[in-house]
Amino acid sequence: MLALGISTEGQYARARSRRRLDGSAISYGLLQIGNNPTREEISRFEEISLSFRTSNGTTRRTFRRRMRDVDATTLELIQQWHSWDAELRVQDRAASNCLTSAELAEPLFRAFPHATLEASDRLLYVLKISLSRGRAYIIEPNGELLQYICPPLVVCLSSLQPYRCPLRRLIAARAKKSFQQSGLPQRCSGYQMDRISCIHPEADALCKRDSRFHICTRSIFDPSADVDVLRTMNILNKAYFPREKLVEGASAAFQSVKPGGLWIVGRTSENETNDVTFFRRIDRRWEVVARLGTGSEIEQLAAESTCQRALA
Ligand SMILES: C[S@@+](CC[C@H](N)C(=O)[O-])C[C@H]1O[C@@H](n2cnc3c(N)ncnc32)[C@H](O)[C@@H]1O
Repeated sequence: MLALGISTEGQYARARSRRRLDGSAISYGLLQIGNNPTREEISRFEEISLSFRTSNGTTRRTFRRRMRDVDATTLELIQQWHSWDAELRVQDRAASNCLTSAELAEPLFRAFPHATLEASDRLLYVLKISLSRGRAYIIEPNGELLQYICPPLVVCLSSLQPYRCPLRRLIAARAKKSFQQSGLPQRCSGYQMDRISCIHPEADALCKRDSRFHICTRSIFDPSADVDVLRTMNILNKAYFPREKLVEGASAAFQSVKPGGLWIVGRTSENETNDVTFFRRIDRRWEVVARLGTGSEIEQLAAESTCQRALA
């Protein structure tokens, strides 16, 4: 079962009880959990989020309390700059399942009851297209293929992760071809399509009970306006994007943040410590106001690119 894949709740529970989950291909369809999820369902959701890789090569890895020190420094800084009744607009972009955004919301709303927090990501749900005999495709809403489930196999369809194993490579190639030829998902009969949320149930619950917390689809490359605090953690990484895209991301951050506002950018290292730069926007440039660890790997690039824009 391990080498083939895990596509049912039963297989998942058996593999879990034997602690044999690492390296297995787990169907993203198992992210689906009920309205009142059990502890087991939540831990399954969190475990799958850890290994989930999206079509643009980024992971969705995030975990509880990952941003604890980042949240503490953020609050310390904004409490120095704003009074408790400020109507702060806070955004956490590339927030994955939005769990760490929900964790920030609690101390933020305690300190600033009139603040709002928007958590966003380019991918908030996937689609499961179920065919006959248990076969299914998992795709992104934009049609990008992620997985093909052909029991007992779970096959990754991302061209960014080509298989070494010739059999899996062949199955993946056939599944992609057959998907394209069938015209799915435009053709509306003969299969069932389900929307599977990638939002953590705790973030979803907070969104439903507190109108100050909002979740939406947004790209880190799209600027918005008048943001007081912007967080882009674990996304503007050299491993994910070439220099020109990182400059584009830094530029979108600059256009989004108000003069006097804060941009938090950084990365969690292998040993789970955070290397972060806290920038304050001073008129037409960034000023570093705090760092965690070694600071962001794009700190210099971000500062230089906005400086060049200002001179242009
Ligand atoms: C490693 S997770 C980071 C999660 C969270 N910020 C953290 O630090 O724990 C990276 C996230 O970036 C998202 N992502 C990838 N490209 C993106 C883009 N262009 N715009 C917004 N989000 C993007 C992925 O879907 C994924 O959820």
